[in-house]
This record gives sequence, C-alpha cells and structure tokens, in this order.
Amino acid sequence: MTFKPVRKAVFPVAGLGTRFLPATKAIPKEMLTVGEKPLIQHVVEEARDAGIEEFIFVTSPSKETLKRHFDIIPELETVLEKRGKKELLAKLRPTNIAAGKLKTTYQNEPLGLGHAVWCAKELVGREPFAIILPDVVIATKTKSCLAQMVDAYNKVGGNMIALNEVPKSETNKYGIIAPGNIDKNIYEIKGMVEKPKPEKAPSNLSITGRYILQPEVFDYLDTFETGAGGEIQLTDAMAKLIGTQPFNGIVFEGKDYDCGSRLGFIEANIAYGLADPEISDDVRKILDKFR
Ligand code: UTP
Repeated sequence: MTFKPVRKAVFPVAGLGTRFLPATKAIPKEMLTVGEKPLIQHVVEEARDAGIEEFIFVTSPSKETLKRHFDIIPELETVLEKRGKKELLAKLRPTNIAAGKLKTTYQNEPLGLGHAVWCAKELVGREPFAIILPDVVIATKTKSCLAQMVDAYNKVGGNMIALNEVPKSETNKYGIIAPGNIDKNIYEIKGMVEKPKPEKAPSNLSITGRYILQPEVFDYLDTFETGAGGEIQLTDAMAKLIGTQPFNGIVFEGKDYDCGSRLGFIEANIAYGLADPEISDDVRKILDKFR
C-alpha cells in the first residue's frame, strides 16, 4: 500500500524563549548555536534528510533573522569562491533554501504549540505533514530522526510520532504514551498523558518533538480549546485523533537533547563538541580540567 507522501514540514518558532532571557531578548532562541549551527539549521537539515520539500516557519515579526539565515547571498558566495574557501562554502550551502520553498506565517500571540501549528493550516492544505520542534536537537548515526519516521510512515501510514525511552522515575517531566501492539520499534498508541507520576505512567515512552500528522488534526485545532497552562495544546488535538485514525510511534535510533532548557543546551554543546573531529581532543582536555 502506498500513502500520500510527507512533503511539508512545519517549524513552530514563535515562542518567547523566556528560559533563555536575557540572551533571547533580541536574538530568537532558535538562532542559539549547538556546535557550529543554530538550532533552526539543525532541524531544517534533519527535514531535508527526510525528503521534505517545503519548509513552513510559524514565526513572529520580531524573528525575521530565522528566515534570513536561509537566504541565498550570492555576494558572500562569490567572495568565498574568489578566495578559494571551499570548506567555508560547503558549510554555507546547507543554509540555502531554494526560492519559494521556505514559507512563513505569523503567530501573532504565543497561545501554545497547538495554536502555532494551526497557524500553518492554509500553507499545509489537506495532506500529511511533519512538525519539528527546533529546541529538540537529535544526533543520529545514519538517517535523521525525521527520515526514520518517514520510512516508518511509508510502511504503515496514519500518524507517527517520535518516541524516546526515559527513566520510569522521570515520567513526570514528559508527555507519555499508552502503548498497544508493538512491531519491532513501532508502537501503536492508545492514549497520551501529560507528565504522569511514575506510579501512574502507562509506559516510559515519551513524546519527543517530532510528529507526522494527518490534516484532520486541524479540524480539532479549529476549536481553539485551551488545555494545560491555558494554552492550546497540540497533545490535546492529537489525543482526539487517536481512535479515529491509525496512530503510531517509533522509538528512533539517536540521542535527543532538550535545548529549550539551559542544562540540555549545555549538554548538547558538549556532545557536539566531542563529536567534532576538529576540536574533540581539545574539548576533552578542557572537560578533564573541570573534574
Ligand atoms: P517552548 O515552550 O519550549 O518554547 O516551545 P518557548 O515558549 O519559546 O520557550 P520558553 O518556555 O518561554 O523558554 C517549543 C517550540 O514551540 C514554539 C517555540 O518557539 C519553540 O520553538 N512555540 C511555542 C510557538 O511557536 N508558539 C507557541 O505559542 C509556543
């Protein structure tokens, strides 16, 4: 059976980034760098690896820098070419998004992730689409996390989210799923619970900031119902889809870093520094000094 291809990805980037103030007063949180690249570039490259053709940023007027990061700047490339800076050019080229392939829409008020996704409704249309949260960066050995999800989606269709095994004692920090049937690393999802206490958690599988959803999710987001924290929650709309459509999750190969928190951000930078052959030995030496 073939399923409608996933061609579009939505990047919700309209949040205020309050946990990183004052750093994020003038610079979007998604422009903070992990390793050599801003967070937004990590996730755009992840989407590209998954075959995504159209990139949709749900942003706010004060965050134009995010779009500018993906502009093609011929003057800069010409200078680098003239100077023979091949390596720099190779680093720059992944930031180029072809004309017409980056679309933006504004979320005028950060009313929650569900609302941010709803803002992309017209740009997505009636086809399956991906959502990637840029504050979760995922390091993988081969295929990107979204590419693994697209592979799984192409086999089983429906809705697909990324799952991560977390320690049972920490389920109260995450959205946790109630699993049904399992086929290798793909779990049927029977329900979702926001931050359950360990003794009440239906599993230790957490929802990890990557989603492939069917357009019917917009029908539920249309109601503008608020949930936890008075925000319009994506989880609430997804929970309503369960039972009406196939809903699965994949335990992906890779390590995710929660770069929306200061600690996760530091951990990600250490991990990417250690994985960078140009500087890894020196990073290790620096870390040794702090033992
Ligand atoms: P977060 O809640 O982690 O981001 O949302 P935030 O609100 O910017 O950060 P804090 O909590 O104040 O520090 C995850 C992603 O969803 C986007 C954010 O920009 C972030 O990339 N988001 C969140 C929106 O686009 N709109 C919203 O209303 C909420």
